[in-house]
Amino acid sequence: MEVVKKVATDVAQNVAPYLEEARLKVNASCQQFEGWQIIAFTFGVTLMLVSVYQWIFDEEYPIKARIVKGFFKFVKNLPIVKGKIQKEVDKNAKGVEDGFQKGIGSLPYVKRLPAKGMSEAQIMKELDKYQSLVTVEWSKGTVSGAVYNGGEELTDIITNAYKKFAWTNPLHPDMFPDVRKIEAEVVRMCCNMFNGDSNSCGTITTGGTESILLMCLAYRNRAREQGIRYPEMIVPTTVHAAFDKAAAMFHMKITHIPVDPITCKVNVRKMRSAINKNTCMLVGSAPGFPHGSVDPMEEIAALGLKYGIPVHTDCCLGGFLIPFMEKAGFDVPKVDFRVPGITSISADTHKYGFAPKGSSVILYSDKEYRKYQFFVQPNWSGGIYASPTLAGSRSGAIIASCWAAMMHFGEQGYVETTRQIIKTTRYIAAELAKIPGLYILGEPQVSVVAVASHDFNIFRLSDALHDKGYCLSVLQFPSAIHLCVTLPHTKPGAADAFLKEARSCVKEIMKDPKAKCGGIGAIYGMSQSIPDRSMVSEIAGLFLDACYSTTDPVDPKETNGVH
Ligand SMILES: *Cc1c(COP(=O)(O)O)cnc(C)c1O
Ligand SMILES: *[C@@H]1O[C@H](CO)[C@@H](O)[C@H](O)[C@H]1NC(C)=O
Repeated sequence: MEVVKKVATDVAQNVAPYLEEARLKVNASCQQFEGWQIIAFTFGVTLMLVSVYQWIFDEEYPIKARIVKGFFKFVKNLPIVKGKIQKEVDKNAKGVEDGFQKGIGSLPYVKRLPAKGMSEAQIMKELDKYQSLVTVEWSKGTVSGAVYNGGEELTDIITNAYKKFAWTNPLHPDMFPDVRKIEAEVVRMCCNMFNGDSNSCGTITTGGTESILLMCLAYRNRAREQGIRYPEMIVPTTVHAAFDKAAAMFHMKITHIPVDPITCKVNVRKMRSAINKNTCMLVGSAPGFPHGSVDPMEEIAALGLKYGIPVHTDCCLGGFLIPFMEKAGFDVPKVDFRVPGITSISADTHKYGFAPKGSSVILYSDKEYRKYQFFVQPNWSGGIYASPTLAGSRSGAIIASCWAAMMHFGEQGYVETTRQIIKTTRYIAAELAKIPGLYILGEPQVSVVAVASHDFNIFRLSDALHDKGYCLSVLQFPSAIHLCVTLPHTKPGAADAFLKEARSCVKEIMKDPKAKCGGIGAIYGMSQSIPDRSMVSEIAGLFLDACYSTTDPVDPKETNGVH
């Protein structure tokens, strides 16, 4: 103790003169300034240092990303590059628009309201003309996913239910006790499908994307309440793009965790090391859209429990398959509320639930989470405003149709459709794996089969199949294609017809495996090699623009389309 005291006094005695000298020097050099100048200068410098610090350590836009972006922006603005890019972009835009126009033949666009309203007969006649433009025969099992048809009989059931509830609005539960009861029942049935206890709860939404948006919003709001300024979600690279959409919309950071290159399941070890104090949720898919693999939810849930972070199972695609797989006679990993740590599940009724498009559910293990997705404005001059989901007014008709589909199938019905779909998926996967030149990517445990090739550009296969009337989904990073099996594929002969075409296309391609790829495949191949993803986004934007094009294909004269 004494020693410390002595050293301290020594230091003080030796340093004191220097401090004194420094003080006098600083004061002398400040003499020429007035007090307010010193204050202003100090204030200015502090402000500058703070903003430099914030610029460098911005959590939302890391400096590396900004430098890369700045570099690409600079290069793109160089006169020669700029001209070339513009030419390429214009060509692409024209190509997309031409493609859409070819699709509508010589049917002119309606651009103004018809001066006089039409009769039902006239309207139906017009709509028949529109429908005649469709060439893809999804009902024959030629399409991957997209249309989840539940059979001929169901069309009448859901449209009749729609008719009964066409003029309802669940925003006013006091006016519509019927729709309130129906919605609550759909949610409860789904909670029970996923083995939720009496605390489990949820809401109906307009689709998988909205279910995901709402749950991300809930976990973000919860994290903010806990004092996290910039909440982060940790997801597999294979997770649905709706999570990126949520991150962009709700000002969250999204960290993508690589998946195993063979099984395409998320690497839980890497997920664990990405967890930090800002992490507000962990996610896995059951199954993931690209390869149909089921992420190890039990391991992810264990991480969630250990670190006190909510865990979401994205069961949008598997929502009406996974809960019935066991009863249908298949092994299935546990991904639902039976697993401690899983706090929410999204399930699409409008996929394998066979409800009409525009319905999905988001479920929580406890009301404690759901409350964070609700929106309330107590001060609105239009009254106290409270809404459970993104929409304000909603369609009670879609909810009633969804209920009707679920009641029509019942557990037995869904167990049977699940059996058919999984059986067909596994059959197709086994047969595709036998084709020389192809290999299966990931584990086709549920309803998706992804294939890739070591020998040729796999997009040549999707192009060749497209020529035969088959629409498969194109995957990237790595390049692959997939078939999402739906009920039409389970019809007798449908799977074999597809396999026959696939075999003959691959045989043809293997005659010259190194040949170049044209069509959509070429675009995808090229797009993956463009390091500047903002270019790709720009071109995708042109595609969306073109969707709203009403430039007449043949007759450029303005027409209101009423003949
Ligand atoms: C379909 C799907 C979604 C949501 O998509 P929507 O088109 O909005 O219904 C989310 N995750 C997975 C895995 C899906 O397959
Ligand atoms: C409602 O009004 C009160 C009082 O004016 C205000 O303090 C509060 O922030 C308002 N709430 C919302 C959600 O706007």
